[in-house]
Amino acid sequence: MASVLRHVKEKKGERLSPAEEIVSLLIDGQGDYLSGESLARSLDCSRAAVWKWIRRLRKDGFVIQAHPKRGYRLISLPDTPFPSVVRAALGTSYIGQVVSYYPRIDSTNATARQLAEKGAEEGTLVITDEQLRGRGRFSRRWYAMPKKDLLFTLIFRPELKPLQVFRLTLLSSLAVAEAVERETGLKPLIKWPNDLYLENKKFCGILTELAGEQERVSYCLIGIGINVNSDPSSHPEISNIATSLSCCLKREVSRVQILKTILECIEEKYERLKREGIARLREEWNNRSLILGKRVIVSSNKTEEKGTAESIDEDGFLILRDEKGERKRILSGDVSLRLR
Ligand code: BTN
Repeated sequence: MASVLRHVKEKKGERLSPAEEIVSLLIDGQGDYLSGESLARSLDCSRAAVWKWIRRLRKDGFVIQAHPKRGYRLISLPDTPFPSVVRAALGTSYIGQVVSYYPRIDSTNATARQLAEKGAEEGTLVITDEQLRGRGRFSRRWYAMPKKDLLFTLIFRPELKPLQVFRLTLLSSLAVAEAVERETGLKPLIKWPNDLYLENKKFCGILTELAGEQERVSYCLIGIGINVNSDPSSHPEISNIATSLSCCLKREVSRVQILKTILECIEEKYERLKREGIARLREEWNNRSLILGKRVIVSSNKTEEKGTAESIDEDGFLILRDEKGERKRILSGDVSLRLR
């Protein structure tokens, strides 16, 4: 609780809603009571209005104790990615410091695109509890359970050429793998180009989209879907190929805690990319690969390549040694392991 109640960083000039303001004041209160009067003064509203907001927050899952003389104090936060909850004790300086939360939207990538077009800053997090049209690669659907999983998109404004944007996908998949390992002890592997696996089943997918010209990226969207507490076996379309963190651990996992660690890992790796370039990140990524050294089939559109996966290069191409011993550089596709 103490770490959760540490400090909410507020972006300069960002206007908080009354509910957010109450939450951030209660968090700053570190578990002590704050009088209704002082809250009303801070919000410039009546004590009755404060009480109305407290009731609304309780409905959203905030546990807030009320005492007739002493006022209100925060007991616990809900496991819902509300901006105030995400930013409480988030140790980043810009990734996830601006949060757009929606109880339900079509797709976080679609909404992030609209925000990016309007000038949203780097690091903006667009997150939802339910996606009506979640998108995967090759226009596939992304299935998730409302309020059980993590569905979010980060806006980047990188100094990269369009061909180098794979570096962001690479560092994001690595960050998710490391964060999941740190929080749960599970050891995710990465399947090129951007799927994460546990127990030979997929639990996370990443959809990278960009806008810009030939030589310049104006923004890049990294959309991440993670099966956290859902049970994919209840979705016939994915029951044999997907898993979730809770299925592997046989217990529920805090979505917000996983999210925070991912955001921290992404910022750390993004800063490292800017400082040092891609070499070390690529090495770490190769060490987590599910396919390197294995015989695979890569299918894209109507073509199929067979061979041994050797590595990925600096731009994220898969280097495949085909059956005639020739090296091939593959830009995109679906990889499956060959059993024989
Ligand atoms: C894939 O594996 O094909 C990529 C799946 C990416 C899904 C995420 S969920 C959040 C974000 N919004 C979307 O519509 N898609 C991505």
